[in-house]
Amino acid sequence: MNNHKPQNGLSLKPKNYEKSKPSMEDVAELSGIETLHPGGFDLSKRIGEIVDMKNKKVLEVGCGRGIFACYFAKFYGAKITGVDISPDMIESSAARAKNEGVQHLTEFKTGDAYSLPFPDNSFDIVVSECGPVGLAREPQKVINEMVKVMKPTGYIAAHGPMWLKQIGVEARKDTEKRIGGQMFALSEWKDMLKKAGAVEVWEEDWSGVEQISKVRPGKKITNMNDVFTLWEKIMIILPRTLRKYGLKGLLYINESSHKISPLFYNGTLGTYLLRARKPTKEEIQVIKDYH
Ligand SMILES: C[S@@+](CC[C@H](N)C(=O)[O-])C[C@H]1O[C@@H](n2cnc3c(N)ncnc32)[C@H](O)[C@@H]1O
Repeated sequence: MNNHKPQNGLSLKPKNYEKSKPSMEDVAELSGIETLHPGGFDLSKRIGEIVDMKNKKVLEVGCGRGIFACYFAKFYGAKITGVDISPDMIESSAARAKNEGVQHLTEFKTGDAYSLPFPDNSFDIVVSECGPVGLAREPQKVINEMVKVMKPTGYIAAHGPMWLKQIGVEARKDTEKRIGGQMFALSEWKDMLKKAGAVEVWEEDWSGVEQISKVRPGKKITNMNDVFTLWEKIMIILPRTLRKYGLKGLLYINESSHKISPLFYNGTLGTYLLRARKPTKEEIQVIKDYH
């Protein structure tokens, strides 16, 4: 979902990205078919609970088509600002908010996670679901930005695909290329949050096939290769992929779906939800004095 070059030249794309080899992200965007992140609405609902989102001022970084921003507005009454690098995504998010009757609670803005267009200490809560934190080339910069624009005592919550077991360097690079972004280990995510100055880093496991099965709204998937129906594959994905990436691209994406599924099934890849709190100036002083 990230064909758009961030303004400062940093991209989600892995360094070895090749145009004739579309990633799963590229195809999900190209299809226009609505897919959710692993864990689906259950995971987003959980975020609302663990950050106490009710009526809060929230920023979602990498909001995509605004599915979850609208959900947070409706379910928790959050006043939510969604930011995405893609003007296309922002347009669809605004249209969705209008359709769902949450225009008064939502605002969508094109912006780059590497340089968020908001003053420091502006939001009670900052969220990134399966977005630029998990797949960015330099996620530390994204996390720093998220913590910066959050008010002291506020929460950051994020999740995305991550490495839970080690594999060889070449296999890792190949998988990241096929998925569409660089991925990190759980311990690396936690370190990045701490480096950004957040405290009380907390995690919850959302890995496993049952979470993958929630990626299509209202449809239970039992196998990752069945995320799209046969009809969708033949009538939508096949012609669009062929037109944009040619036969080579189509064969590549088919191979990718068969290579990536086992990594989620055998626990090499998974998802953790992380939450951390931004300390107050006084707390930072106490931490400094202690050290
Ligand atoms: C996998 S989608 C996730 C969308 C949504 N949060 C969800 O969970 O379904 C990742 C989103 O991050 C956006 N994105 C990629 N790079 C970005 C950047 N540097 N700044 C802001 N958004 C970015 C993409 O355009 C895309 O909409």
